[in-house]
Amino acid sequence: MTKAYEIIDHVYDNIVVGAGGAGLRAAMGSAEAGLKTACITKVFPTRSHTVAAQGGIAASLGNMGKDTWQWHMYDTVKGSDWLGDQDAIEYMVREAPNAVYELEHFGVPFSRTEEGKIYQRPFGGMTTEFGEGPPAQRTCAAQDRTGHAMLHSLYQQSLKYDTDFYVEFFVIDLIMKDGECLGVLAMDMNEGTVHRFRAQNTMLATGGFGRAYFSATSAHTCTGDGGGMVQRAGLPLQDLEFIQFHPTGVYGAGVLITEGARGEGGYLVNSEGERFMERYAPSAKDLASRDVVSRSMSYEIREGRGVGENKDHIFLHLDHLSPEVLAERLPGISESAKIFAGVDVTKEPIPVIPTVHYNMGGIPTNYHGEVLNPSADNPDRTVPGLMAVGEAACVSVHGANRLGSNSLIDLVVFGRAAAARAADTVKAGASHKALPKDSDDMALGRLDKFRYASGTITTADIRDQMQRTMQSNCAVFRTDEILKEGVQKISDIAKLMPDVKTHDRSLVWNSDLIETLELDNLMGQAVVTMNCAFNRKESRGAHMHEDYPDRNDDDWMKHTIAHYDANNQKVDITYRPVHDYTLTDEINYIIPKPRVY
Ligand code: FUM
Repeated sequence: MTKAYEIIDHVYDNIVVGAGGAGLRAAMGSAEAGLKTACITKVFPTRSHTVAAQGGIAASLGNMGKDTWQWHMYDTVKGSDWLGDQDAIEYMVREAPNAVYELEHFGVPFSRTEEGKIYQRPFGGMTTEFGEGPPAQRTCAAQDRTGHAMLHSLYQQSLKYDTDFYVEFFVIDLIMKDGECLGVLAMDMNEGTVHRFRAQNTMLATGGFGRAYFSATSAHTCTGDGGGMVQRAGLPLQDLEFIQFHPTGVYGAGVLITEGARGEGGYLVNSEGERFMERYAPSAKDLASRDVVSRSMSYEIREGRGVGENKDHIFLHLDHLSPEVLAERLPGISESAKIFAGVDVTKEPIPVIPTVHYNMGGIPTNYHGEVLNPSADNPDRTVPGLMAVGEAACVSVHGANRLGSNSLIDLVVFGRAAAARAADTVKAGASHKALPKDSDDMALGRLDKFRYASGTITTADIRDQMQRTMQSNCAVFRTDEILKEGVQKISDIAKLMPDVKTHDRSLVWNSDLIETLELDNLMGQAVVTMNCAFNRKESRGAHMHEDYPDRNDDDWMKHTIAHYDANNQKVDITYRPVHDYTLTDEINYIIPKPRVY
């Protein structure tokens, strides 16, 4: 039963949900274009997960050797294992240099070369000469705290324009009418008050759903809130089966050790002291793409060559690097290694293990950030009034596997593109469409359901079961048997949600309500991920299916489109074609070929 809530109304031209790199860039651009803009965020902007990005942002500046956007494009398409949309990839890599210069002018304190240019380091899968040349130094870095520097600069910039920030507000659901988005309903977490934001345009910049897994580099706030809202609005998500495992999470803690550590010369060894990546990727070695390195590490562990008492992890050596390089280029991870692994990187290797890091899939969009609701006759049909950017979105520039440092560039390029599109399509101050009578029912019903939930299983219990199932049944290696079991297990766990126990008046401060709303968002995406992984009978990028070990372009070069009906526990999967064309004739479609590093 819905309790009576007093609803506080707000009216905007454009609202942005989320204040990470993509959300802030989109909000800033929208306000700069003269749109009345609100940014609604569940954490203070500079606590958004972009703050944790370390190694850098990719752009072919060519500061450390020749580079071109065409080479960056080739590497990104190859990294995506040909699941990325090549028009969107072309857009991103062409815009990348200007996006980085823009950040420089915003005040991002990039590390510098001797001549004062932006410092760029090598990263996995980034090469020259269309994969034929030596590694590219393409990743622009602010030490190993690039995301932190970017987020603070973007927040400062966004204050310069007239964006209204609603901080520690949790968005519960979209307000939809006849397939169009008219805003959102949110709760002020401090007061418990309910707020209706009406907007001509809504941008979701809510990040990924890494916390569907037990061990992730993602912050605990990465609960896929935008994806959950989209699912409940009856819209699909795309390519969720592609989960990136970062090769170097600190063993036992999950904390990220940047790929930049290998970019600066770090290397992995097994229990025999062997630099095993030379066997798996003779050319790129430790700087092969992430899916390749994570799989190789997992093979080594499986074959009994892991390190440690249980032979269940790998060592990352940085102790051969000079203390000056470590202090100047990698101070953050030197500190993390000390705090989380008790290791002095100048003397000992860091114990690492592949750890969930990024969702290649998400809310399908075109390269303007407009959300897609593909139909059989129009795979590129858009949803009026709704956009998505950043990790929440699937543009798709990362396809089946993202290259390191292509995430930060994705945030700012598409945050900016979405703002530009909104500036073109939204008329400042135009009148708003009438809301349907039941516009708040779904969100308020959801709020009530969990606010007063007095079942028998705690939120933490259900979350733990979900995370462990995802970790064991939908990880680096997959088989039909493991996935089939996973589909059943995750469905059984999702069925526990109506029996969740949230309400506990004995606590002065009870965060269970928000955690339950977040868990509900995660659960839908966990169920869909498992089902989509079971459905895809090939291996591509991060989806390594041992029963179908090869990529199968004839049958499977297509995006997964999945709807989820939580009430009936139904996942409906269809597919849409990958964009096999480029945006301009300055580069041809990059023809698929075997992916070796
Ligand atoms: O390894 C890293 O620094 C992470 C970068 C990324 O995911 O893009």
